[in-house]
Amino acid sequence: MNNHRFNGSLINHLVCSKCNTFFDHQVVQTFATCCNVPLSAEYDLRNQSIKEIIANDYSMWRYHFALPILDSSNIVSLNEGYTPISHLNKLSNQLSLNALYLKDESVNPTGSFKARGLSMGVSKAKELGIKRMVIPTAGNAGGAMSAYCAKAGIEATVVMPKHTADTLKEECRLYGANLIQMDGLIDLCGKKAREIAASTGAFDMSTMKEPYRLEGKKTLGYEIAEQFNWELPDIIVYPAGGGTGLIGIWKAFKELVSMGAVKGLLPKMVLVQSVECSPMVHLFNDGQLPINYSPKPSAALGLAVPYPFATAMMLAVLKESNGIALTVTEEEMEMGVEAIAKIEGVLLSPEGAATYKATQKLFELGWVKNTDKVLLVNTGSWYKYR
Ligand SMILES: Cc1ncc(COP(=O)(O)O)c(C=O)c1O
Repeated sequence: MNNHRFNGSLINHLVCSKCNTFFDHQVVQTFATCCNVPLSAEYDLRNQSIKEIIANDYSMWRYHFALPILDSSNIVSLNEGYTPISHLNKLSNQLSLNALYLKDESVNPTGSFKARGLSMGVSKAKELGIKRMVIPTAGNAGGAMSAYCAKAGIEATVVMPKHTADTLKEECRLYGANLIQMDGLIDLCGKKAREIAASTGAFDMSTMKEPYRLEGKKTLGYEIAEQFNWELPDIIVYPAGGGTGLIGIWKAFKELVSMGAVKGLLPKMVLVQSVECSPMVHLFNDGQLPINYSPKPSAALGLAVPYPFATAMMLAVLKESNGIALTVTEEEMEMGVEAIAKIEGVLLSPEGAATYKATQKLFELGWVKNTDKVLLVNTGSWYKYR
C-alpha cells in the first residue's frame, strides 16, 4: 500500500554542476545559466541514518528525504519505482559469470523508467504552480509526461520523431496530450519544444534542462543499494541517451556514501549506446565527435540522442567510477532480445538488450571478470516498440 507517510524533504538548494553557484529550489529553475550546464539538487544528509528515514512506502517515494518535493500533497504518483531485481541464473551460467542480475524497469507505470523522472518533474512543477509543459522525446518520456500531466491536471505537449513506434504516439493522445511529430531525431524535437515554450509560456521539460527529472531517476540508485542490502554490485551496465539514469544512479551512490549507508567499493559504471548514434562513446574514447559525425535513428529509440546536454556529467561518472563506454550494433540488440527471451523468459526493450550484448563484449575483452557481480538495467518494455 502506498500511503506516502514521509519524513519530509531534506533539500537545501540547487547548484550549478560546474561552478557550484547556488540556485533557489523554491522558484522555477531550468539549467545553470552561469555555465550552460545542468543544475544539481543538494540535500542536508549529514548525520542521517538511512534505515531511520526511509518512508514506509513501496514506491520510489520511500526515499522522499532525498527528493525535492516540500509538501507531499503535491506528489503526483502512479506507484513508480520499487521494481524487481532478478538473478539471470541461466544466462550467468552461459556467460560463465558468477552473478548476472537484471533491474527490470519495464514494470513501471507507462512501461519505462521514465516514469520515475516524470513523476518527480511533474510533482515539482505542480508544487511551483506550472500549468502547462512541453517535452521533446524519443518516445517513452513523452508517454510518461502525458500520464503524469493527466493525473496532475497540467496541459501537456509532446514533440516526438515521426519514425517513433505507433504505441508510443497513441498513448500520448490517450492521456490527452497534444502530439507534434517531427522529421528527424530528438535534437530537432528539442528545437521545436524551445519554440513552443517561448511562444506559449509552457515549461520546457527537456532532459537535464529541468533539474528534477534527475532526482526521480536517482531513486534507481537508492533502490539498487537497498535491494542488494547496501553492498553494491561490481558493475552496472546502463543504456544511455540523455544520461539522466546514469548520472542519477551515481548521484544516489554518492549521497549514500555521504550518509555512510553503503559498504565496500562503488560499482564501475558502463555506458552503452547504439553504433548508429554514439556521441558519448566518441567523447569518452576521443574527447570529440568525429568530423563526419552523422547520427542515425536506432531501434533503441531512447539511445538516439545526438547532442546530449549533460556530456560533462556523464563523462565524470565514467571517470570517477573507473567505467567505460561502448557501442553495440542494431543486429546485436535484436539478437540480445531473442537470446534473453529464449533462455530467461523475459522480453527486454532494445535498450535493455544492448546492456546484455555490451556485457558479453566486455567479458570477451576481459574487462568483466567471471567473479564480478554485474547488474543490467532494462530501462523499458519491449511491448511499447510496436
Ligand atoms: C527505454 C529507454 N532506455 C534508455 C533511455 C535513455 O535514457 P537517459 O536519458 O536516462 O540516458 C531512454 C530515453 O528515452 C529510453 O526510453
